[in-house]
Amino acid sequence: MSIVYNQEEKFFNLHTQNTTYQMGINQYGYLLHNYYGRRIADVSMDQLLDLNDRGFSGNPHQAGRDRNFSLDTAALEYTGCGIGDYRISSCEAVNADGSTAVDLQYVGYNIYKGKQGIPGMPAAYDNGGESETLEIMLEDPCTGLRAILCYSVFENMDMITRSVRFENHGDGTIRLERALSACLDMQPGSWDLIHFHGRHCMERQPERLRQPHGITRISSKRGSSSHQHNPFVIMASPETVEAYGDCYGMMLVYSGDYAAEIEMDQMNHTRLVMGINPDTFSWKLDKGQSFDTPEVIMGFTHEGLNALSQMYHRFIRNNICRGKYKNIHRPVLVNNWEGTYFNFTHEKLEAIASEAQKLGIEMFVLDDGWFGKRDDDYSGLGDWKVNEAKVRLTELVQTVNSMGMKFGLWIEPEMVNEDSDLYREHPDWVLKIPGRNPSRARYQLVLDFSRREVVDYVYEQIASVLSSCNIEYVKWDMNRSLADTWSAALPADRQGEVRHRFVLGVYRFAERLISDFPHILLEGCSGGGGRFDAGMLYYAPQIWCSDDTDAEERVLIQYGTSFGYPASTMGSHVSAVPNHQTGRISTMDLRGAVAMSGMLGYELDLTKLKSAEKAKVRQQIREYKKYAELVMNGDYYRLTDPVKDSDYCAWAFVSENRKKCLFYLVNLHTRANAPLINVRFRGLKPDANYKIQREKRIYSGAALMYGGYTFPAFAGDGQVVQMYLEETKSGTAR
Ligand code: DGJ
Repeated sequence: MSIVYNQEEKFFNLHTQNTTYQMGINQYGYLLHNYYGRRIADVSMDQLLDLNDRGFSGNPHQAGRDRNFSLDTAALEYTGCGIGDYRISSCEAVNADGSTAVDLQYVGYNIYKGKQGIPGMPAAYDNGGESETLEIMLEDPCTGLRAILCYSVFENMDMITRSVRFENHGDGTIRLERALSACLDMQPGSWDLIHFHGRHCMERQPERLRQPHGITRISSKRGSSSHQHNPFVIMASPETVEAYGDCYGMMLVYSGDYAAEIEMDQMNHTRLVMGINPDTFSWKLDKGQSFDTPEVIMGFTHEGLNALSQMYHRFIRNNICRGKYKNIHRPVLVNNWEGTYFNFTHEKLEAIASEAQKLGIEMFVLDDGWFGKRDDDYSGLGDWKVNEAKVRLTELVQTVNSMGMKFGLWIEPEMVNEDSDLYREHPDWVLKIPGRNPSRARYQLVLDFSRREVVDYVYEQIASVLSSCNIEYVKWDMNRSLADTWSAALPADRQGEVRHRFVLGVYRFAERLISDFPHILLEGCSGGGGRFDAGMLYYAPQIWCSDDTDAEERVLIQYGTSFGYPASTMGSHVSAVPNHQTGRISTMDLRGAVAMSGMLGYELDLTKLKSAEKAKVRQQIREYKKYAELVMNGDYYRLTDPVKDSDYCAWAFVSENRKKCLFYLVNLHTRANAPLINVRFRGLKPDANYKIQREKRIYSGAALMYGGYTFPAFAGDGQVVQMYLEETKSGTAR
């Protein structure tokens, strides 16, 4: 059993294979956090609690003369507010009488096998017999606000998911002003925060800082999870590196505004909370109503950052991503965006498709510009009718299919141009505040997806195109952040709900799409990786990683992304040189190696390739297909840190049985008289022998991992070493 309640000592142990999470109920009815770390026996860890009389840290009334228990210093499982805990809180509310206190006291618990979903929202799922769930009821005795803390333990994955359901069991209306998904009072000690910041065209760059006293906040108020800060944070002990050390991950399964806050308090205790961004949220709970928070995925390992990443990779592949393409080979595609932008004709598309077919490409994707009056980004968004003057879609799909390739299409459902029939008919369907002109971004406004009729209308338009011909892939884009939030469909006292309802609208659209068209591979996108999160991955098993297609920059982007997300989720394309974002000329080998380390595609005008380049494309696709299973489902190893040493980067995919390994070393900047590069492999079996393809010598796993492999000096930037290793029983290893 992975969840155990110790009746006598009143504590819950949540065990996974290698970790234990423990909470206890104290004599005053509060749920305390005792421990989260390496697996321990069913013993209470309450000796870790700081129960001491501290000046200016008061005591709850029911503690009577006990000055040692303070909500301000104890490790708490999920906190209320306004009653003497001065640290960041998990939830806040305005009660019917105008007071702002929430006092969450233990009421009871429930344990069951399996895991439930969260209504209308993405959440990790159980494939059968993988999980056990604990629900703990906390309630404010004064207002009747109940918080049901849900923990699902995936024992073999070493992962725990958490969410909270709020219910109003009182008589009056309660307005939630903060309703976070999780709170984690960390083990004593210093903690480094690792988070993933960025910008359009440079997403998810790792940054590591020692948590100081006070509060650090990572968040988004853009209506999407954002290019700027990804909803995934790691707390690591200071000595933790890739291959060893204690580290915790917290990842939000959500695609809208969020916040992760970390506070080190007066006693050096560290608290981490995560959930919907309270700055842009409030939710009215009338008597009898409930509210569900999104879920977080928590993981712990003492084996370092790479092991933590691999835990998330496995969990996302197995328990978040769904559908036909969950873990099978995704078709190698060509996307016309950087090849033509809006400037294409039917014939031009056919020409690219025909070239694609000759090169072994498996799918043709038609990007922006196929609908309405959409010859640039000024107009057309919202009018999901094929522009037959530009492209005869059904005919093109047939042509592509007859070439033996699949066909894919771009959409951007949540957006509208003012110059569109949709906006002219329904000007009140956009987010805008009465009396104010809404801000434009890329000349577009945001449709009010908090309204079901808007979501359903756009869905019907798009679904009718998708059913009109054999479309087997959809790229769902979102090219601006939300602003001017106000919905014509909600009263003034519910306007704080619009942004979360918007996200629910996005999920409604996505769920309809994948259930009506289960054969479609959905790829997420938001100006590249602006909505790269576990929430979208529940619907779209891959996401366009970045609009920056420069291979060198992509090394950094994919490196940062890999901390939380597997290669199977990263859409990655070979594009033309000079690169359209940086002007850099990278070798075809480098562009190929980087794109082949994600879900491979091409994004350039194939008709302009020289014959040597075409030969390379053919070779890349052949190789990729050979190794696709390893890239999709293998364990990913970051072998060097390109942020610290930007001259080169090495990574590898190792099969679960550790018999196969695909290794890449890319040389980004060659130096004169440079020191040789030595890379130590990881994840191999030390006592097994490996044959490196195209090399005569056989190496033991131990030699490759403990001694490493030293590479000859490179001549010229952008050189790639791709090595495929397989365990061998024959020959003698050095
Ligand atoms: C932004 C995307 O990231 C690009 O790949 C492309 O689809 C454009 N939008 C189209 O407008």
